[in-house]
Amino acid sequence: MNERNIIVGLDVGTTKVCTIVGVQNPNSELEIIGIGTHPSHGLKKGSVVNIDKTVRSIYASIEEAKLMAGVDIQSVTIGIAGSHIYSFNSSGVVAIKGSEITAGDVERVLEAAKAVVIPSDREVLHVIPQEFRVDNTGGIKDPVGMCGVRLEAHVHIVTGSIPLIQNLVKCVEQAGVKANSVTLQPIASSESVLSLEEKEMGIILVDIGGGTTDIAIWKEGSLIHSQIVPVGGNHFTNDLAVALKIPHAESERVKINHGCVLAEGLNQSAHITVQGLSGTNSREVKLSFVAEVLGARAEELFHIIKNIIADKNLGNEITGGIVLTGGGALIKGIAELGEYIVERPTKVGHPTPFGGMTNIMQNPKFSTVLGLLIETSKRTQVLDNDINENNNNQMDLIGKFSDSLKSVFKEIF
Ligand SMILES: Nc1ncnc2c1ncn2[C@@H]1O[C@H](COP(=O)(O)OP(=O)(O)OP(=O)(O)O)[C@@H](O)[C@H]1O
Ligand SMILES: [Mg+2]
Repeated sequence: MNERNIIVGLDVGTTKVCTIVGVQNPNSELEIIGIGTHPSHGLKKGSVVNIDKTVRSIYASIEEAKLMAGVDIQSVTIGIAGSHIYSFNSSGVVAIKGSEITAGDVERVLEAAKAVVIPSDREVLHVIPQEFRVDNTGGIKDPVGMCGVRLEAHVHIVTGSIPLIQNLVKCVEQAGVKANSVTLQPIASSESVLSLEEKEMGIILVDIGGGTTDIAIWKEGSLIHSQIVPVGGNHFTNDLAVALKIPHAESERVKINHGCVLAEGLNQSAHITVQGLSGTNSREVKLSFVAEVLGARAEELFHIIKNIIADKNLGNEITGGIVLTGGGALIKGIAELGEYIVERPTKVGHPTPFGGMTNIMQNPKFSTVLGLLIETSKRTQVLDNDINENNNNQMDLIGKFSDSLKSVFKEIF
């Protein structure tokens, strides 16, 4: 198998590390050939807090994927989240030198849009073009070749803490592979879960992970807002452990097997038996009480999302509603509760199937890693096309992502 066609996504999550190996067949179709998942130890709220434990989890996940795929893994695309991520919109303007807009002009205007003051311990992870304006015409996605005298770019900029990005990259490299790029996790999840039509209409992707909830808001095919909220599935589990006075592992079992966020529809007399803390007897608890505890946390999360929409003044932009994904979206009743609180159509989004994807992988908890794989595959194709056509002027937007990342790596190492 040609090494160049091997593509690998690595999602280092708070609860699990997942590696997926794909291969690009001669028709440029992506096919999954290996997967490895391992419980994650060493992360808190999406950020590395213990290097050794994180390296071991990554190593185990990569080894499992390698064994299944029967190929060697040299480089991976990793996802990043964590509460250190901060994103904002910016814009820049340049004068056009020639009669036609060239790729060089686009590069200059993106540089101008990026020229904002950020703290010295932060780095720009992505500069994602939203739209270009040529003179008085807006809504342009690719201005190359157009005539005009003034080019304006509106972009979404994602920044992260340099030490925290470095820690993650260091763990990946200590596990024996090269991190060739870093992608914001909700961008990756959007790639595997949302359709182009949804991104066009205006939609909120909400990836409820273990440690964080990652948000990406799309309109007219562009990312207009992204944010990491430090509340995830682990908080639901912790709340239940405290309220029921049961061990954490028992609380996770109860949440997954019997959890629901809507107490109203439940049979009020239904009970389950739970294991008490060590040394105490097992007890009966009402299912409606379990749902009240989980429901309170889910309500808090949806109120945060509602406030983000209001604060950013995005109410009129999101005509497509909300898509929930990530392992935390599997809890019963969550879409109904979200729809009720945020007052927008809400559904649970599963990764869209493609070659080699089994039923097991069509689980919302694999949205990020599958998105990383798809994104890398698209980027590789763009690079291949560039090489084939020997034409660097044809810069794709995805290529732009990777370029901004290359500069991050250059500056970090
Ligand atoms: N069937 C289920 N019902 C309810 N919750 C579930 C279910 N399956 C998984 N979860 C929850 O999903 C969460 C893990 O989701 P996921 O695997 O997407 O997180 P992660 O990627 O490891 O974390 P993060 O993205 O925050 O770094 C855990 O809190 C887990 O309890
Ligand atoms: Mg995740």
